[in-house]
Amino acid sequence: MRIRKAVIPAAGLGTRFLPATKSVPKEMLPILDKPTIQYIVEEAVESGIEEILIITGRNKRSIEDHFDKSYELETELDKKGKAHDLEILQNISSMCNFYYIRQKEQRGLGDAVRYARVFSENEPFALLLGDNIIYNQGLPATRQLIETYQEYNGSVLGIGEVSPEMVNRYGIIKGEKIGDTLFEVEDLVEKPDIGKAPTNYAMLGRYVLSPKIFKILEETKPGYGGEIQLTDALKVLAKEDRVLAKLYEGKTYDIGEKLGFTMAQVEFALRDPQIKDAFKTYLKGMDI
Ligand code: UTP
Repeated sequence: MRIRKAVIPAAGLGTRFLPATKSVPKEMLPILDKPTIQYIVEEAVESGIEEILIITGRNKRSIEDHFDKSYELETELDKKGKAHDLEILQNISSMCNFYYIRQKEQRGLGDAVRYARVFSENEPFALLLGDNIIYNQGLPATRQLIETYQEYNGSVLGIGEVSPEMVNRYGIIKGEKIGDTLFEVEDLVEKPDIGKAPTNYAMLGRYVLSPKIFKILEETKPGYGGEIQLTDALKVLAKEDRVLAKLYEGKTYDIGEKLGFTMAQVEFALRDPQIKDAFKTYLKGMDI
């Protein structure tokens, strides 16, 4: 089945990154000159997605504005003959069809995903977390998951290997390895204590899910941290239906906290053709 819809939850409060996120959504914090969420939308579009639902909340208006047409700015750029900048701007709003819905209370990722039920129209959909960027020179991570879904006909969780001291920050999978980069998922544990994780494979912000998840989410009670956890619903899904985990190629950055955000900033700068040489020279000359 063709997968043409994606959901990006971007309604979270971003408490790990205060005060930056007090009035600016973390999804709008830029990595170089592009807001985080634009990288994510581009990944979805490059993966073949045509319709994107962004789950927003109060204080998140700037996300909608960013993907809207900007008449004043476009007219100004046109008048000044800045054709290249104009094209960049126009591409943002024409990349795909955008839809928005507001999560009323920030009750967790599982609760946010529930809002996509009507949008999904009972089709499988890609889910991309609004604060995780994946750098990739080959196939985008979401495309890799879509292809796995199509080949194995089961929901797919994007995973990566994390160090044993970091397992308590992620949802960790338990399952049987059925290929070089593929697992059949039996169970999941949200943020296990260090030393108690079944594997070191963590879910890293990308999924392709069967619409069966919605019914399960309706019945999912608040779990870890008092929030409705997507992981709890995925555990049930793995019992009722086929769920795979795919070790995708690409480097993931969690920009929802200081360290991940800074790492993304530095590494993207070191890859940027315009500034990488000057930035390297600057880093080498630093005496901090
Ligand atoms: P996080 O787990 O990072 O939670 O969300 P958060 O609330 O945004 O941030 P902290 O932990 O307080 O710093 C992962 C993704 O899910 C979205 C977030 O916007 C982010 O893109 N999310 C989270 C929602 O849409 N709604 C929620 O209720 C929680």
